[in-house]
Amino acid sequence: MKKKKIYLDYAATTPVDPRVLKAMQPFFSEKFGNTMSLHQFGQEAKLALEKNREKIADLIKAKPNEIIFTGSATESNNFALKGIAFANRHKGKHIIISSIEHPSVEESARWLEKNGFEVSRISVDKYGSVSPAQISKAIRKDTILVSIIHASNEIGTIQPIERIGKICRQKKIYFHTDAAQSFGKIPINVNKMNIDLLTASAYKIYGPKGVACLFVREGVKIEPLLHGGGQEKGLRSSTVNLAGIVGFAKAVEICQKEMLKEKKRLENLRDRLIKNVLKIEDSFLNGHPKKRLPNNANFSFLFVEGESIAIQLDLAGIAVSTGSACSSAKLKPSSVLLATGLKPEQAQGSLRISLGRWTTRKEIEVFLRTLPKVIKQLREISPFSR
Ligand SMILES: Cc1ncc(COP(=O)(O)O)c(C=O)c1O
Repeated sequence: MKKKKIYLDYAATTPVDPRVLKAMQPFFSEKFGNTMSLHQFGQEAKLALEKNREKIADLIKAKPNEIIFTGSATESNNFALKGIAFANRHKGKHIIISSIEHPSVEESARWLEKNGFEVSRISVDKYGSVSPAQISKAIRKDTILVSIIHASNEIGTIQPIERIGKICRQKKIYFHTDAAQSFGKIPINVNKMNIDLLTASAYKIYGPKGVACLFVREGVKIEPLLHGGGQEKGLRSSTVNLAGIVGFAKAVEICQKEMLKEKKRLENLRDRLIKNVLKIEDSFLNGHPKKRLPNNANFSFLFVEGESIAIQLDLAGIAVSTGSACSSAKLKPSSVLLATGLKPEQAQGSLRISLGRWTTRKEIEVFLRTLPKVIKQLREISPFSR
């Protein structure tokens, strides 16, 4: 019998939940109308769009008109940074981000630097945590935006978003958070947390790829990136991906119902995994020991390369990742791990294991039996090994 493959890379992407797929299906060939059309096909589509917008807004306690649909988290992050920068440049040209942002924030910031803006990058401690006091110190008279990732896609550390939001609100500076990894997994309340803009994506929570959103608080001044037919209040022209949005909303609805129970289940599996992996000699956990995503564990193993471990595990039928999906193909030490103070050789030996809806205790046991063997074999042939 063929051995079942074990998927432990849910932070990279998730399979579409069959309930999501079922909800989407009628919107491909039956309810296919364009939301901008005046006839009944269009009106039916428009109604579905607004009903589903409400469901997504409800998860983070936003108003429906504060959700702008986009095509990806990358687009949402570009829209947040560039849109705020250009709409508010008369007020100032200074932006604050952290040193562990996803490339879609870091590269947007870098592009803005080339176009006359100034960017401060706040460093993190050894757990990858950003200090609110340091943000407060970095704020200047001309600061227009603070953008801090909610939970790291690589090491899973959850940032003190509520405290950072409070500082920004007091100083009347817009606050954006990239919540692509936390949305649907841990509770978020944009009002309590003083968030003005928030990035979320469907395919990280068992929805389809190609659909995401940016929460934009009412009254926030932002320039669109895409100009055209004026969809999404003129902030994101493009015919909306209605089937995708219906799937996104269904995925959100399921997360909302199951979040607390699932969070607990995953935390138990994750903690069991961490406790047992750390029994391997010369291994350590990256990211915060407690303030981390329920489904994330990130380790470094001395004297071996993360890529070699991931390849050997893949041959054994277990899919994991080194760092993030975006950097794992680059064979460079992760900039996030370097930012936490790891030496390049420690960062090279890192492995990200991310759990999800279909991860079982049995799969974790198989992983825990396989990993020590793989590391032992690799250390035996490693020129760096003791
Ligand atoms: C935190 C974070 N932000 C942004 C993105 C970009 O998402 P996408 O490639 O779907 O645009 C990712 C993807 O992994 C992510 O983890």
